Amino acid sequence: MRKTYHIWTIGCQMNVADSRHLASQLESLGLSEAASVDEAGVVVLNTCVVRQQPEDKARNRLQSLKPLKKQNPEIVIALMGCMVGEREAETLPDEYPFVDFFLEPSKPDQLVEFLRSQCGDKVLPAMDELQDYHLPDSEENAVCAFVPITLGCSHVCSYCVIPYRRGPDRSRAPEVILREVGALAAQGVREVTLLGQIVDRYGMELEGWNLARLLHEVCRIDGLLRVRFMTSHPAYMDDELIQAVADEPKLCPYFELPFQAGSNRILKEMRRGYTREEYIQTVGNIRAKVPEAGINTDIIVGYPTESEEDFMETFRLLEELRLDVAHIAKYSPRPRTLSARQDDDVPPEEKERRRVLLDELARSILTEKNKKLEGETVTVLVEGFQQKTGRWRGRTAQGNLVFAEAAGTEDLAGRLLPVRISWAGPYSMIGDVDESKRI
Ligand code: 5AD
Repeated sequence: MRKTYHIWTIGCQMNVADSRHLASQLESLGLSEAASVDEAGVVVLNTCVVRQQPEDKARNRLQSLKPLKKQNPEIVIALMGCMVGEREAETLPDEYPFVDFFLEPSKPDQLVEFLRSQCGDKVLPAMDELQDYHLPDSEENAVCAFVPITLGCSHVCSYCVIPYRRGPDRSRAPEVILREVGALAAQGVREVTLLGQIVDRYGMELEGWNLARLLHEVCRIDGLLRVRFMTSHPAYMDDELIQAVADEPKLCPYFELPFQAGSNRILKEMRRGYTREEYIQTVGNIRAKVPEAGINTDIIVGYPTESEEDFMETFRLLEELRLDVAHIAKYSPRPRTLSARQDDDVPPEEKERRRVLLDELARSILTEKNKKLEGETVTVLVEGFQQKTGRWRGRTAQGNLVFAEAAGTEDLAGRLLPVRISWAGPYSMIGDVDESKRI
């Protein structure tokens, strides 16, 4: 077997974190990243099935590996992520006989154990899914890292497949998280994003712990400049958590707070656990305590029975709240979910019309907000250099992508810098490092 690996990843940040974790484990067995999929001894597809589209993409990609396996039966092929729930792990092998391993999300052990037996006596750290995550070699100079803190989800929204694929939610132990973030900071990481499907439920089953307490402790870790957390559920976003963001200078004024729908009838059908009015109240609480907050959201259009009036309530909610980034998805029925039993009755062209309308609104809000930053100086954490444009790439605390020009040849990655914005579009902005304000 060739001692090289290739990992293909789509989906959420949790998948990205799982892929990096697996890569670091493979590297500790002596494997290195292959230059391309054709040169890999081990090929892993880390999949997403939250909507039909990423699932189709993953299945196509998987089919494309069939000839590779035929050509070279020695190649180890593993399917990982949300395509493989506990149940699917039993049926998928019949469907894809050329796949060697089916790995449930965040559980790569089977593959790693097999490779360990192939690679001799290498000693590996414990591989409990709730234990340490590491950075692979390719990320050794990373400025930003993801750290999963809650795995799985127990909320069971009517449309969502995640609980069936990632299992019920469980919190990783605070000591493990703090040790891991400490190690990342010592390695040079300057920003961590704590991850969970519903991150603000962190600690529900741990005596004396919640997300606010964990965040305070993470912020004490030397070397870190910024801390974020995502994704939050509006029903668990309490004042203590918002106050933590207001109080901790390292905690970014950045919230991922999906509202999904603006109509109370649809919210109820979705089993989201809050009303439109409660969501508005929560955004008000955030803005009262953290006026500069960037608040992003996810929205689903074309949920079963969604009428024009329901949709307009969603449209008006975004218009009224003027949130920052809105990720808009067209509803697709997912296996075993409650809503999949209902007729998917909003026609595809109507779903597309609603998506486009919301997308245009979101884009115009963002353009207008960002234009106001032209001429202003923002603080950017530099993540790397973009060869193509000769500019440094980084983000504001609110998560805006910034490309900045700087005089000199100094390596600025990992530094917090003042950047004067000269041009701002909806999805990125350009500026110059403001030497007069540099500390
Ligand atoms: N159809 C369309 N979008 C969905 N999402 C989750 N489930 C579905 C579905 N069945 C969206 C939600 C969620 C995001 C990750 O994907 O908006 O927040």
